[in-house]
This record gives sequence, structure tokens and C-alpha cells, in this order.
Amino acid sequence: MIPKSALITGASRGIGAALARALPSSTHLTLTARDADALDEVAGSLGAPARRVETVAGDLTRSADRERLIEAAEAKEIDLLINNAAVGHFGPFLGVEASRHLEAVQVNLAAPIALTRTLLPGMLRRAKSEARKCGLINMGSTAGFAPVPRFAIYAASKAMLHSWSVALAEELRCEPIHVLTALPGSTRTTFGQSAGFGMRTIPGSRDPDAVARDIVGALGRRSLIVTSHTLRPAELPLRVANRLFTGLIGRATRALSG
Ligand SMILES: NC(=O)c1ccc[n+]([C@@H]2O[C@H](COP(=O)([O-])OP(=O)(O)OC[C@H]3O[C@@H](n4cnc5c(N)ncnc54)[C@H](OP(=O)(O)O)[C@@H]3O)[C@@H](O)[C@H]2O)c1
Repeated sequence: MIPKSALITGASRGIGAALARALPSSTHLTLTARDADALDEVAGSLGAPARRVETVAGDLTRSADRERLIEAAEAKEIDLLINNAAVGHFGPFLGVEASRHLEAVQVNLAAPIALTRTLLPGMLRRAKSEARKCGLINMGSTAGFAPVPRFAIYAASKAMLHSWSVALAEELRCEPIHVLTALPGSTRTTFGQSAGFGMRTIPGSRDPDAVARDIVGALGRRSLIVTSHTLRPAELPLRVANRLFTGLIGRATRALSG
């Protein structure tokens, strides 16, 4: 699909900024993150003000900021929502402040759920009335495949995001929407430094622009994308298992409700 208007969370750097670069230049962009200067820099690098880019600085842990963002997204009649922002705090569960754990739950889970639940009805209504499709991209992580000691809340938040996103895609199967669950493997951003890893970049990490191009290219073609060089041998069984699992669950749900 070629989106007319997209909202990208976590667009001040990393994969979020790369997703903004990867979308077609005809797409109006609403970019959000906390750092207003960094957002303006990304907008400038994309050709704003000539290109239609709006920045909305705000903190996804604050409901007032989420409300402002929702208003901006509705005013721009978005037809693509990208829930990309996330944080992680590396360390043993008892060694990390409770407020940091709760911040990760807010940014990685509560915000995507709140934005999606509020914005999707309008997106679907507009898509139906204009006989076209809208889109939703949820950014999970390969870290969500298994429990990760010392990164437990981040991995658990991504496991839940993955489960919710795949289930939602099945629920919306007959609606005019493409739902894509994106699971990046290690990517060269400053995420690791923010999370408190010792290592600057993990060997085998991919370039964020390449990852973003793969994700944008998969929207409308696939429901799940794992973007990783290092995990490529594991990708096929995972995709087959995911397809079988979601297909079976979908059939069971329809049988029980029908
Ligand atoms: N990099 C990897 O290796 C990797 C691997 C797997 C999955 N992922 C996933 O890919 C996505 C992007 O990761 P990344 O590597 O690009 O991360 P990143 O470089 O650390 O960027 C995170 C983005 O989230 C924003 N953010 C953080 N806390 C926020 C808050 N409270 N309110 C609003 N925005 C907030 C940050 O902006 P501000 O600081 O300006 O608010 C920033 O724009 C995440 O969902 C991550 O879990 C990344």
C-alpha cells in the first residue's frame, strides 16, 4: 500500500527515523518522540517544510501527551500507524528501579495498545468509505521469542506485543487493513547504549535503513517479518509455525463464535 498519512512513534532516531526515510515522499508524516530538536532535525533531513512533515514532541508514558498525539493523528487522517518506540533497561530485575520497569511497560505496550485502540476505528472507517486499505505496523523484537534474564521486562513486553499483534491481525482479517508484526533482530542504533548494554554494537547488526526498507516493503505482502542476518536459518520454521498457529487459532475462534 502507498500510505497517504502516517504516524511514527519513536521517530527521533534509529529505526523510527529510518522508517520515515523509507516511506514514499508522497506520504504525509507525523513524527513523535520526546526530543523536539532531534525530531526537527529528522524532519529537516526529509525535506520539510517542502515535504509535509509534522512533529509532535511528547512522552508516551504521559496520557495527556498521548491524547495530544491522538488529536494530531486524527486531524491528519492517518491511514498508517507505526508503533515503533520502545525502551529497555538492562540489568537484573531487582537491580533496576521499579519506575524503569513500568516505563518500559508504558512505552512498549500501553502506548501501542492505547494508540491502536483509539485510532483504528477512524482509520478503518475512512478506508471503507474510500474503498482502500489502511495499515498498522507493530515493532516487536526477536528478543520476544524467549525469556531473557537481565532484560526480562523488555523481552516480556515484546512477547506480549507479538502475541497481541498477531491475534489482532487475525481478528481484523476481513477488514480493510494490513497488519504487520515486525521483529527486528540486532540493528545498529543507539538502543543498546540507552538500555545500558556494555557493547556499542552487536556483531552482525543490520543497518537501520535496510531494516526499515524491508519492513515498509513487507506491508501488505506479509503479516510477519523477522529482519535479521544472524537468525536467518531460524526464520523459515518460525514463519511456518506462526502461520500454522494463527491459522488454527483463527479457525478455532470462528468455529466457537459461529
Ligand atoms: N536496535 C535493535 O537492535 C532492535 C532490535 C529489535 C527490536 N528493536 C525495536 O525497534 C524499535 C526501534 O528501536 P531503535 O533501535 O530504533 O531504538 P532507539 O534508537 O533507542 O529509539 C527509540 C525511540 O523511542 C523513543 N522513545 C523512547 N522513550 C520514549 C517515550 N517515553 N516517549 C516517546 N518516545 C520515546 C526515542 O525518542 P526520545 O528519546 O526522543 O523520546 C526514540 O525515538 C523498538 O520497538 C525496539 O524495541 C530494535
